[in-house]
Parts: sequence; structure tokens; C-alpha cells
Amino acid sequence: MKAAEQRNEIEQQALERSNQLTDELVASDVLVLAAPMYNFAIPSTLKAWLDHVLRAGVTFKYGETGPQGLLTGKRAYVLTARGGIYAGSSLDHQEPYLRQVLGFVGIHDVTFIHAEGLNMGGDFLEKGLNQAKAKLAQVA
Ligand SMILES: Cc1cc2nc3c(=O)[nH]c(=O)nc-3n(C[C@H](O)[C@H](O)[C@H](O)COP(=O)(O)O)c2cc1C
Repeated sequence: MKAAEQRNEIEQQALERSNQLTDELVASDVLVLAAPMYNFAIPSTLKAWLDHVLRAGVTFKYGETGPQGLLTGKRAYVLTARGGIYAGSSLDHQEPYLRQVLGFVGIHDVTFIHAEGLNMGGDFLEKGLNQAKAKLAQVA
């Protein structure tokens, strides 16, 4: 947000990286995210990407009625991998959070495909993968 003449070299480089990632997102029709669940939420690398692309005046703006997403007309697919089973539970801070931030920039058409129970042993791994594959086939 700093004026160009006030930015030091490191800040300028950070802005260029953010511009690159934001341009890529703005130019896309479909966003595909793949993320493991880490501590009930998203990995820090995905959070860093979000921090680069949620940009006031570029991907959202504040209008008279509050914030308004500028990335309209896009779809998103989010594939998650989880050691346990959390879909639909209050412990799932991944799907609700991603729905909120994607919606904030105007992406409301979001489909989640969860591969769950991958670290639970027994038949859980096979069942979790099969369910995710079935959902993928349905979506594709
Ligand atoms: C740091 C860390 C935190 C994790 N936290 C969770 C968690 O909160 N819930 C869960 O179900 N699995 C958790 N897991 C397990 C991963 O979600 C699971 O192993 C997943 O398959 C990893 O995806 P990957 O196989 O694509 O690396 C965690 C794994 C790591 C390494």
C-alpha cells in the first residue's frame, strides 16, 4: 500500500511477487487448490498465498455497502487431504475459512473434494480415497 517512491528494494520485490500471483489469479477462469489439513486448518504456505492475492483495490474493494469481491465469474475446486475425518464438523476450520476468503474476493462457486481418514489405518485409507475419487469423477 506504500507509495512507489517510499518502497525499499525488499518491499518492491515483495510487491512484484504479489502482483505476479494476483495477475495469475485474475486471468484464470477456474481455480484449483490442493491442500492438506494442518492443525484443523490450512497450511501456512496456502495462507501466505492468500495474503499475497487478497488485495484491496485489486481482488476486492470497499464500497458503500462494505467489502465487495472483484473476482466474479470464476469457479474454484478445492482438494483436501486429511489424516482424520472432519468434513461437516465444527473442528473443520479449513472448508469454512476457504469458503469465506474465496467468497470475499467474489468466488462463490466453490466445490470441495475431501480425501479423509488417510492416517487412521484399517480400511479408512481405501474408503477415504475411494470417496474422494468418486466425487472427483462426479465433478469432472
Ligand atoms: C503438521 C501437520 C498437521 C496435521 N494436522 C492435521 C489435522 O489437524 N487433521 C487431520 O485430519 N490431519 C492432519 N494432518 C495429517 C495430514 O492432513 C495428512 O497426513 C494428509 O494426508 C497430508 O497430505 P499429503 O499426503 O498431501 O501431504 C497433519 C499433518 C501434519 C504434517
